[in-house]
Amino acid sequence: MELLEAKEILGQEFSFIADFLIEVVLSLDIKEDSHILDVGTGSGRMAITLALNGFNVITGEPEDDFSEYAKLDWLESAKKVNVEELIVFKPFRAEELPFENEIFDVIFLFGALHHVDGRELAIQECYRVSKQNGIICIIEPTPKMIKIIRKTTPTHPEEEDPRNYIGELPLSVEIIKNYFFHAYIFKK
Ligand SMILES: C[S@@+](CC[C@H](N)C(=O)[O-])C[C@H]1O[C@@H](n2cnc3c(N)ncnc32)[C@H](O)[C@@H]1O
Repeated sequence: MELLEAKEILGQEFSFIADFLIEVVLSLDIKEDSHILDVGTGSGRMAITLALNGFNVITGEPEDDFSEYAKLDWLESAKKVNVEELIVFKPFRAEELPFENEIFDVIFLFGALHHVDGRELAIQECYRVSKQNGIICIIEPTPKMIKIIRKTTPTHPEEEDPRNYIGELPLSVEIIKNYFFHAYIFKK
């Protein structure tokens, strides 16, 4: 399905972010058969964007997250744009990923890091499960975006700069910025 059609079907919440997510995904030059992990499913915008670009993706969030950020209708949205078969859901915590070492080519955390309690551990886990030369792409809202989110969700946490949580891990970083989001692209 064309992105324009998907944006019309999925509405404002998806179309608002889709162009930036696609810009980031295209910049990574991901190979067709790549193993891709999406940490923090939420409403599925990251996983659906990847699937609309033809990628298979494993996505997950903690089984015991009963906050307003989890257990959303991502599957219903994926079905609306015919990409549900490309997305596999598996419950997990970022701090304890249920995967072997070095199996993913690209890992995404879109709007998720600031919701994770053990951020340093989560990034260590992403490092462990990514292949040599793998990419960990962490997309965080800007303070301007947080202000907007807090109009409807006043308790929403502050954004995080993931560079504060990589510790001694040997990762290079590039940043793609727009007004509302920053994408931190870490390479192993
Ligand atoms: C705002 S949503 C992310 C948006 C989502 N990535 C999207 O594409 O629409 C925040 C997500 O972080 C998840 N989360 C919170 N703590 C987590 C943890 N420890 N490990 C993994 N995911 C976590 C929540 O369950 C939720 O799915």
